[in-house]
This record gives sequence, structure tokens and C-alpha cells, in this order.
Amino acid sequence: MSDEAERPKRRQRYRGTHPRRFEEKYKELDPARDPETVAKVIASGKTPAGSHLPVMVEECLAALKLVPGQCGVDATLGHGGHAVRILERIGAEGFLVGLDVDPLERPKTEARLRGLGFDGSVFEGVKSNYAGISKVVGERFPEGVDFVFADLGCSSMQLDDPARGFSFKTAGPLDMRMNPGRGLSAAEWIERVDAEDFEKVLMEHADEPRAGALAGALAGRRFGDTLELVRAVREAMPMMDEEVVGLAVRRVFQAVRIAVNDEFSSLDAFLRVLPGCLKAGGRAVILTFHSGEDRRVKKAFQQGEREGIYQSVSDGVVVAGGEERRMNPRSVPAKLRWAVKA
Ligand SMILES: C[S@@+](CC[C@H](N)C(=O)[O-])C[C@H]1O[C@@H](n2cnc3c(N)ncnc32)[C@H](O)[C@@H]1O
Repeated sequence: MSDEAERPKRRQRYRGTHPRRFEEKYKELDPARDPETVAKVIASGKTPAGSHLPVMVEECLAALKLVPGQCGVDATLGHGGHAVRILERIGAEGFLVGLDVDPLERPKTEARLRGLGFDGSVFEGVKSNYAGISKVVGERFPEGVDFVFADLGCSSMQLDDPARGFSFKTAGPLDMRMNPGRGLSAAEWIERVDAEDFEKVLMEHADEPRAGALAGALAGRRFGDTLELVRAVREAMPMMDEEVVGLAVRRVFQAVRIAVNDEFSSLDAFLRVLPGCLKAGGRAVILTFHSGEDRRVKKAFQQGEREGIYQSVSDGVVVAGGEERRMNPRSVPAKLRWAVKA
């Protein structure tokens, strides 16, 4: 054995009192090494860096009505928080396929689930857009599945990692792609879009009341990083109340993210093929996080019920309880809807 192998590894220390890099700053990035820090972060109402607190888990499980032995799809695997609870319910006789477009996070989640004992006999991770769910289901379950679950949008791992460019709080490349290997980055998209189309995107994707003025100020420009875009939004709204400007920054980031990832086209395609993936009596449960998503899910479910494709759909939306809203601010805008295949 070499000297190197015998010597205990030194814990990497922060350089200085203000660590600059994401990996240095958050000890909870390695939860196995620092479980106490993780517990403290969760108790303070925050999400540990590099992980994702699953939203409305009990409400989702109640709507899915899982029984042991069922087979289904988690269309948005993310950190696997919902997937683990689903796997526990369907047991060793059941099977879950987990889809995700993110090539960086999906392998980590798969490894985590394998580490928890969910082997290939009960779980398979697949790199796929949920728009392609019928191919995935058709190849594995030609008779359809018992349930499909989706928890739309981004994970905390994606939002919190400055290198992914989703965050308006920290400097990073203006990217925002859930799959960085496909399509235009946010910087390229803004550089190519004209003011008219940008205005539409700001209105349709984020209900931005100052869409026209912001689109005029931002469209066609090349931004070097996330904070440059934040500065440009601020400059386009001089003399405005800080709260209004802050909301505009959030909305611009949300609208651009949805455009860059073509989120609404994927959701529309998913909702169209979803009934064809379910067995009779199979259940679809979807969590949405803003009005553009919820409108689409509501319309598809209600239309499906009128046409006799679904035997029943949720009357209204289910929302997170007070305690969860307090503990996890990301649960506040969440809306759950379900539908049962006829
Ligand atoms: C809110 S997170 C899911 C979190 C997960 N339920 C958990 O408990 O950890 C959404 C995930 O869906 C993925 N995603 C977003 N759009 C997608 C799409 N069109 N197809 C497949 N996955 C998608 C994102 O990459 C992200 O990992």
C-alpha cells in the first residue's frame, strides 16, 4: 500500500471566510458526510444545496392511490424524492420508470436510488423528454401503466447551481437548458429573438405586465452572464419600486427558461399522449407551478372527461398545507390535479 493510501484524507477547507465556489460554500452538498448540516438547513425552511425537497408528497400519494405490484412512470425524476415514496408503495412486485431530460442530474439520482436498494428489478431511469412518454411506455408496457406522475419545472439542484445559469441571484453562464446538449442557451435565445416575440413570451410564460418595455430593452442583446441580464432588467425599470423590479427579474428568468426549454410544447405533447399510456382505471397526477402550466393541465383533463377519455378528474386544485408552505417556499405556488382513465 502506498503512503498516499495510508494517510487519512484531509478534509478540504474553505479558502478564507467567504467561499466563492458553490461546491465550497455548501457543506450539505455531500449529505452522507454531513447529515447534521442537512437537518439544520431543512429545519430552517431551506432546501439543502444539491438536493430537492419533494413537494406535496402525501397529497400526491393520496391522489395516486398506489397499491403493491403496480407499474408506472415518474415523468420528472429530478432528485427522486417522489420516486422513492412511490417505490416504497408499489413494493418488490411493482416497477417504476423514471424519466428526465437532464443528463447531469439523472445519473446521480439513479445512483442514489440504486444505493437505497432499488435495483433494476423495480426501477429504471430513462433519459427522455416526457413528450416521448408513449414510446417509453409502449416498449415496456404495451398494455399501459397503472399511473403516471409529473412534477413540472426545474429541480432545486438545477436552480441553485450557478453553473447551470438558472439563478438570478448568483453569477453564472446565461444558459438555463435542462439538457445543456440541446438547443440554444438563454444568452443565444435572447440575442436572436425580436422584441415582438420576446414580448409574447414575457406575457404568455410569466404574465409580465411590463412585457413591451422589457422586451424592447432586452431583445437582440448579448448578455455575458446571468447578472448582466439582471442589471439590464433593472436599468429598463428606473425609478420603480424594488419589489416590482424584483418580480420583473423573476418573471424574465421564468419566461426565458420556459422558452429555452420549449416547456409548453413538451407539456402539450405529454398531455395529448398521456391517456394512451394509461390502462383503464389508471391514474395521472400532475403538479404545476404557474398559471401557464396549470391552465394546460386543467384544459386537457376537463376536455378528456367531456370526451369520455377520463372517467373522472379533480374538481379543483389541491394545494400545499400551511406547515409545508412555511417549511418549503417552493411549495407555495404548487397546484395538484389528477385524472382517472376511463
Ligand atoms: C421539479 S423537478 C422534479 C423533482 C422530483 N419530483 C423530486 O422529488 O426530486 C422537475 C424535473 O423534471 C425534469 N424535466 C423538466 N422538463 C422535462 C421534460 N420535458 N421531460 C422530462 N423531464 C423534464 C427536470 O430536469 C427536473 O429534474
